[in-house]
Amino acid sequence: MARERWNSRSVFVMAAVGSAVGLGNVWRFPYMVYDNGGGAFLIPYLIALLTTGIPLLMLEYNLGIKIQKGPAQAFEGFKKGSGFIGWFALLVSFVIVSYYSVVMAWVGKYLYHSFTVAWAGGSKDFFFGDVLHLSSGVGQLGGLVTPIVIVLLIMWIIMYFIIFKGVKVVSKVVMWTVPLPIILLFVLFVRGITLDGAASGLNFYLNPDFSVLANPRVWLAAYGQIFFSLSLGFGIMIAYASYLPKDSDISGNAFVTGLANCGISFFAGFAVFSTLGYLAQATGQPVSEVAGAGVGLAFVIFPTAIAQLPGGVVVQAIFGVVFFLTLITLAIDSAFSLVEGIVTGLKDQLNAKRETVTLVVCIVGFLAGLIYCTKGGLYWLDIVDHWANSFGLIVVGLMEAILIGWIYNPEEFRADINRYSDINVGKWWTICVKWITPIIIIVSLNLSFYSELKESYGGYPLWAVMVGGWVMIEVLFIIAVAMKLGFRERRES
Ligand code: PHE
Repeated sequence: MARERWNSRSVFVMAAVGSAVGLGNVWRFPYMVYDNGGGAFLIPYLIALLTTGIPLLMLEYNLGIKIQKGPAQAFEGFKKGSGFIGWFALLVSFVIVSYYSVVMAWVGKYLYHSFTVAWAGGSKDFFFGDVLHLSSGVGQLGGLVTPIVIVLLIMWIIMYFIIFKGVKVVSKVVMWTVPLPIILLFVLFVRGITLDGAASGLNFYLNPDFSVLANPRVWLAAYGQIFFSLSLGFGIMIAYASYLPKDSDISGNAFVTGLANCGISFFAGFAVFSTLGYLAQATGQPVSEVAGAGVGLAFVIFPTAIAQLPGGVVVQAIFGVVFFLTLITLAIDSAFSLVEGIVTGLKDQLNAKRETVTLVVCIVGFLAGLIYCTKGGLYWLDIVDHWANSFGLIVVGLMEAILIGWIYNPEEFRADINRYSDINVGKWWTICVKWITPIIIIVSLNLSFYSELKESYGGYPLWAVMVGGWVMIEVLFIIAVAMKLGFRERRES
């Protein structure tokens, strides 16, 4: 049977950009910048993009295009015995999408509440109380929060219908879900920079402190952000590329994806920090007090700023809707790309029907997400997120770089990349994959390992961090190896 195809090259780039551009660009990137030296952070960030991000994108595209199969089979096809890397990547993806979809469910619920600016009485209590019903600690699961479960179910149903027919439908969906949030971000940008106090926020965002460049943690943050933001190490880019014809351009597509993603991140920072500057001024606090990361930024700080906007409740409702619609359209194409990676991997392995595999993956993904819909769910989400990202992805990236740089012949691989590409990649590619990427990842991993041991993440009790962190990653690894061995035996028997 002929393999499904994207509708065109530009649609593939759209889908790749859609996967890359997500919540990470709007909340994670601006926060990383301000926390790691302001404008000076852009230096390690750009270096990470050029020495690891774009080279590994080319690597993943080439694996998918050449072998024309999902991640596990692509690795196995390049080097016998390496298929477990692909399975591990897909398992990490599964863990990530199980909670990423829950965050989307929160966004969905907020979108609904935007029409009445329901959080106006106090964003913090609204989020932790009315929406999450947060329990007192990680050990208190305290039952499911029904409204979130319902929105989560809706999110999975939407994702199912987008991908069960294959990349032809995805091709159509990304024509909307990629440009729309960019336009909406532009609206938020214009509103943000025209508010009083915007300049102080922007100053805070970009004011460079070059002394941070001597700090290894800043470099670690830059590399981690590049992996997360470009969706590297998830197997997604391999799966997406496997639906391209064999004579496709690689290097040009990788440059476009990488630069577009990082450009959007930079731009989103203006929208976010100008609004924070306004909030700081309106509440008489310094910008550093109102700025916050992650969950807090999207669900507490921004809603607070929206409830303060001049012009009355209608204007506030409009901006509430614009903001949460931006988030949901940003997130949805990232989320279904995670599911698509898993579906591609399983269906290529089992030769099963796409519809069936998609249905099973969506049901299991929904069920796995229920843990984060409990009253203690936020704590678990935080722990699992930290480990899956800090260790899961970077380890996949390291294994990729070692496999191609050291076990396979990187020069041959580079020739492969160049065969049909518009831009010829030089020897720098080999140096990045063989030396720079592995060295930086190994140093970073060791440094972060050390800090994990010194201090339990987020101040959670050790047992919780063990279960949601270390044990989770180890179990995934063991399952990945078992899948690899199991599938080989089936083929041989
Ligand atoms: N790249 C996405 C973002 O920046 C997150 C993501 C990671 C999406 C992995 C899919 C896979 O938000």
